[in-house]
Amino acid sequence: MAKSNDWWTDFFPAFRPFFELLSPRETATEVRYITRKLGLKKGSRFLDCPCGIGRISTPLAKQGVRVTGVDITGSYLDELAAKSKRLRLKIDLVCADMRRINFDRQFDAAGNIWTSFGYFEKEPDNQLVLRKIFKALKPGGKFMLHVINRDWIIKNYSSIGLTEAGRVRVLERRHFDFASSINRSEWIYLVDGREKSFKENLRLYSYHELRAMMLKAGFVDIQGFSTTRDEPINFNHRMMFVIGTRPGR
Ligand SMILES: C[S@@+](CC[C@H](N)C(=O)[O-])C[C@H]1O[C@@H](n2cnc3c(N)ncnc32)[C@H](O)[C@@H]1O
Repeated sequence: MAKSNDWWTDFFPAFRPFFELLSPRETATEVRYITRKLGLKKGSRFLDCPCGIGRISTPLAKQGVRVTGVDITGSYLDELAAKSKRLRLKIDLVCADMRRINFDRQFDAAGNIWTSFGYFEKEPDNQLVLRKIFKALKPGGKFMLHVINRDWIIKNYSSIGLTEAGRVRVLERRHFDFASSINRSEWIYLVDGREKSFKENLRLYSYHELRAMMLKAGFVDIQGFSTTRDEPINFNHRMMFVIGTRPGR
């Protein structure tokens, strides 16, 4: 049985249909942006942490990038392993908690993409993820954090939401805790007339907080954009791309 705080253990296997909501075109645009911003070339080593079902890892590997994917959801890694085998792509997969990775100066670049950050109740654990990714990079290596923008959420906050992905309908009940900046949601799934509910606790960040956390982890040259067209971050854009560099050469 998962600890009550480890909400991701139950949440993500059920979340699988939601990957289908991102269109291949959207993902292709993100992959081009990641490639350009992180300077990825054929043979570059990239850490995708966490990688999910390989939405980003697979197209990068097709470009000749040497990808290592980390994720905690076994079923996602099984799916990605089967897909990469079918496509004859080599993607190294590691099943681990992102706080526990132990790479050392191995990667030219790394990404934490599509709001895969802020999952931990204790703030030092979220900071630890940045530190571990920093450590995994070679000096001069770049990191992209792609997360939802707290300032957009606050401006557009709704305590209820309804999303459909194929035959799955989800009613989301949200409660924002201003003391911790954690959004606590209950996702109530309706599949073929049956109900199942899962918890999601997400620490939401403003850009200035992420900048401070990236600097604390050791990154320099922090830059932030809200879209793949390099628009500035403000409360009108839902997502943020925050990029930092491990100093040295
Ligand atoms: C929203 S998905 C994003 C996946 C991928 N980055 C993408 O863009 O498609 C978040 C991922 O984080 C993984 N995850 C959740 N908790 C984790 C943890 N503690 N350590 C490592 N991975 C985790 C989930 O299994 C899921 O694949």
